[in-house]
Amino acid sequence: MNKKTGGLAGLIVGDTAISTVGKEGLDLTYRGYSIHDLASESTFEEVAYLLIYGALPNKTQLIDYKKKLISLRELPAELKSILEKLPANTNPMDVLRTGCSALGCFEPESQQFHQQDIADKLIACVPGILLYWYHFHQNGKSISTTCNEDTIAGYFLYLLRGSKPNEEQRRAVDVSLILYAEHEFNASTFAARVTTSTESDFYSAIVSGIGTLRGPLHGGANEAAMELVSQFKTPDEAEKGIRALLEKKAKIMGFGHRVYKISDPRSDIIKKWSKALSANAKDGYLYAVSERIEKIMWDEKHLFPNLDFYSATTYHFCGIPTQLFTPLFVMSRLSGWSAHIIEQREDNRLIRPEANYIGPEPRAYIPLIDRG
Ligand SMILES: CC(C)(COP(=O)(O)OP(=O)(O)OC[C@H]1O[C@@H](n2cnc3c(N)ncnc32)[C@H](O)[C@@H]1OP(=O)(O)O)[C@@H](O)C(=O)NCCC(=O)NCCS
Repeated sequence: MNKKTGGLAGLIVGDTAISTVGKEGLDLTYRGYSIHDLASESTFEEVAYLLIYGALPNKTQLIDYKKKLISLRELPAELKSILEKLPANTNPMDVLRTGCSALGCFEPESQQFHQQDIADKLIACVPGILLYWYHFHQNGKSISTTCNEDTIAGYFLYLLRGSKPNEEQRRAVDVSLILYAEHEFNASTFAARVTTSTESDFYSAIVSGIGTLRGPLHGGANEAAMELVSQFKTPDEAEKGIRALLEKKAKIMGFGHRVYKISDPRSDIIKKWSKALSANAKDGYLYAVSERIEKIMWDEKHLFPNLDFYSATTYHFCGIPTQLFTPLFVMSRLSGWSAHIIEQREDNRLIRPEANYIGPEPRAYIPLIDRG
């Protein structure tokens, strides 16, 4: 592969007004607001509104938006029945891919369900899709997907445990949802925009995004990072293990980034949450293990942790099962994907690049009978 153009690295493939990492690739802003301000001052609902509706909501708009999201949590009975029929060992990302696709059959995009309503419906009910399936197969229980928790983070934790979440954990998940919400032309957003550019429907674009996010080089990295970190009991053990992996030229999940070259501005924010939560966690030593891995990766490879690395222990210390980490990324990124689908439609042109052909020159066709 041509090292320069491989993976479209460094290519600008379209305009967006939604977010940017800045000209130097050192920062991240959503519609001009710094990720640092949003993570310290806002809730995920404000950020989702900002991305989808274009401006931060005022107090009344936020109250109405939260009420709307709460009112959309019920799942169609037919969708629950599909979730019940999926195998218990289905990858939860496949559950979300299937659940969103099925919802698109029951409530297809139309005059009745238009794009912003679909975005809101998906944000409101994806935690329910995931956890309805999870409890049905893990505990043999059909849970109710409605409740009064008025944040997506609280709703997710409530459905997971069936009880009111602890405030520190709720806010940690809320902040992580803010950080995961949007990241300009990342792979899954680009996939959603490519699908949108064919004038396909909203759900198809979202399903393209989910399928693309699933891989370990993208959203799947938070689960892969947890699997890595949890192998080690002490920082020294981690140092030895990581050095051995680097010697084998293995990729260390949760490190490196396509657009950031010095650091990921989201990492320090989530790292603070991981540290704070580790104080009360039974395996809080995993924070020290993670810090040692960070040090070795910087010393040996000059690679820094991306958002996925400390998100892994943040979620783990909140008692969230590892297989639900990447689905949490979906719950958040639905807002960014939706904003990009809407933006792509505003000034659409089919996205269809060209290939550098490296195959055989034209040659004579061989009839089947002569093919040996
Ligand atoms: C994010 C990622 C896919 C970016 O990939 P990319 O821009 O194509 O960069 P490359 O994979 O070409 O990496 C460039 C060099 O750094 C090395 N490198 C990059 N990430 C690495 C990692 N996590 N561990 C070890 N080495 C890594 C590569 O081996 C390569 O070395 P080389 O030039 O000697 O071959 C890559 O850093 C990665 O796979 N990270 C781990 C998965 C991850 O955390 N994904 C979430 C991203 S937010």
